[in-house]
Amino acid sequence: MTEVQNFSISYQVHQDRSSLEAADVTLVEMAEKASKDAYAPYSEFNVGAALELDNGDIVIGNNQENASFPAGICAERVAIFAASAQQPGHSVRAIAIIANSKKVELMEPVPPCGICRQVVAEYEAEQDSPIRVILCSPNGPVHVFSSMKDLLPFHFHETSLKQQG
Ligand code: THU
Repeated sequence: MTEVQNFSISYQVHQDRSSLEAADVTLVEMAEKASKDAYAPYSEFNVGAALELDNGDIVIGNNQENASFPAGICAERVAIFAASAQQPGHSVRAIAIIANSKKVELMEPVPPCGICRQVVAEYEAEQDSPIRVILCSPNGPVHVFSSMKDLLPFHFHETSLKQQG
């Protein structure tokens, strides 16, 4: 017998930043500031991320590229690895992400890549509380998800490594 399972997610669509909570506006602004300092000479696609921790601190990251292309790393991972290294034991409440391209105008939020989703999902599972994901565009809408799980259902989890056959 075959059973079909369904799931759906809900997320907020804000026409612009004006309807965001004040703390989210600050986070988006920090992410945007960080994007300006990205080291992205090859793609000219600057990404910034800002994390809000449970103590109210904000940790930023931006993409770092390299002439050996695969050595580069995305803004989201720079930010969350920095938070884990610098403020161990503190959980992450939210991550704001924004991209600016020197080549094209971005009218919609840019969603995080699969590897970054996987990495953030692991920290979220580890801290056992949701990380809100705020996807922002330079002059357009903002999408707010209540958990990284919504962006990466069925994520690979360390329990799979221990699963008995
Ligand atoms: N990038 C990020 O920083 N975050 C993402 O989620 C997607 C892509 C960066 C990687 C690379 O430096 C540039 O954007 C183009 O892919």
